[in-house]
Amino acid sequence: MQIKGAIALVTGANGDIGQYFVKALCDAGATKVYACARKPSDLTSLVAVNPEQIIPIALDITNSDSVETVAQACQDVNLLINNAGVGLLKGFISAADLSSARAEIEVNYLGTLAMCRAFAPILQANGGGAIVNMLSILGKINFPMNASYSASKAAAVSLTQGLRMELKSQNTLVVGVLPGTVDTPGSQHFPPPKVSPEDVVREALQGVIDGVNEVYPGEQAKQMAAQLLQDPQSLENAMSAMVNR
Ligand SMILES: NC(=O)c1ccc[n+]([C@@H]2O[C@H](COP(=O)([O-])OP(=O)(O)OC[C@H]3O[C@@H](n4cnc5c(N)ncnc54)[C@H](OP(=O)(O)O)[C@@H]3O)[C@@H](O)[C@H]2O)c1
Repeated sequence: MQIKGAIALVTGANGDIGQYFVKALCDAGATKVYACARKPSDLTSLVAVNPEQIIPIALDITNSDSVETVAQACQDVNLLINNAGVGLLKGFISAADLSSARAEIEVNYLGTLAMCRAFAPILQANGGGAIVNMLSILGKINFPMNASYSASKAAAVSLTQGLRMELKSQNTLVVGVLPGTVDTPGSQHFPPPKVSPEDVVREALQGVIDGVNEVYPGEQAKQMAAQLLQDPQSLENAMSAMVNR
C-alpha cells in the first residue's frame, strides 16, 4: 500500500509518537489525516503544521459511543493507525491493586480491538487498506518493571496476529510495530539504547509500503527479536537480572 494518497486515522495523535505519525503521513503525501485525541485542544499546534491535511477529532478508544461516532464521521479511511496506549510501570504483585492492569488492558487491548472492529468494514469498503498496531517488544518478553503493560501488549500482539488471519479475505494488511525503548519524554527514566520516534514512524510506514507483518524499529528491538528466536531463556534471564540485582 502507498502512503501517498492514503486517508489515514491516527489514535493518540497528541502523544509523543502519535504526532510524528501525523507529520510523517503528511510529508509522505497522505491526502487526509484524521488526528484523534481525547482532548482535541491538545492538537492545536499539530493541526497548525498542516491545517489543510490534518483534521482534529475527539476520540476515547475505551468509550464505545466515541468509537462509533468517529467511525461514522470517517468513512473514507483506508489506513488505521492504532497508536494510543498506556504504560503505568507496575509489577504484577507490587502494584497496589488491579486498577493499572485493568486500565492497560482497556486501552492497549480492548480499545485497539474496538477500533479494529469499527474500522474493518470501512477498510473493506475502501478496497482493503491497512491497520498498523503500535505494539512493543515487551509484548513478546515480559519486563517486570512494566509487567501488566507487557501482558496487555502480549494480548495486542495476539490480536494483531488473529486480525491478520481474519481480514486476509478482505485484503486488509495488518502490521504490528514492536519497538524497544523509544526516545520520548515518557521513557526518560529508561536506560539507552533508545530508538527515535522519527525512526519508529519511518520504519512503520515503510512496513506498510512493503506489506510486511511485523516491524521491529531500531537495533534494540531487532536484537531482542533475534534473541527470542535463538535463545529466549537468555533474554528472560537478562530481564530478570534488571530487577533482581
Ligand atoms: N515510548 C516508548 O518507549 C514506547 C515503546 C514501545 C511502544 N510504545 C507504544 O507507542 C504508543 C505511543 O506511545 P507514546 O510513547 O507516544 O506515549 P504517549 O506520549 O503517552 O502517548 C499515548 C497516547 O495515547 C493516548 N491515549 C491514552 N488512552 C487513550 C484512550 N483511552 N483513548 C484515546 N487515546 C488514548 C494518549 O492521550 P492523552 O494525552 O489524552 O493521555 C496519548 O495521546 C503506545 O501504544 C505505546 O505503548 C511506546
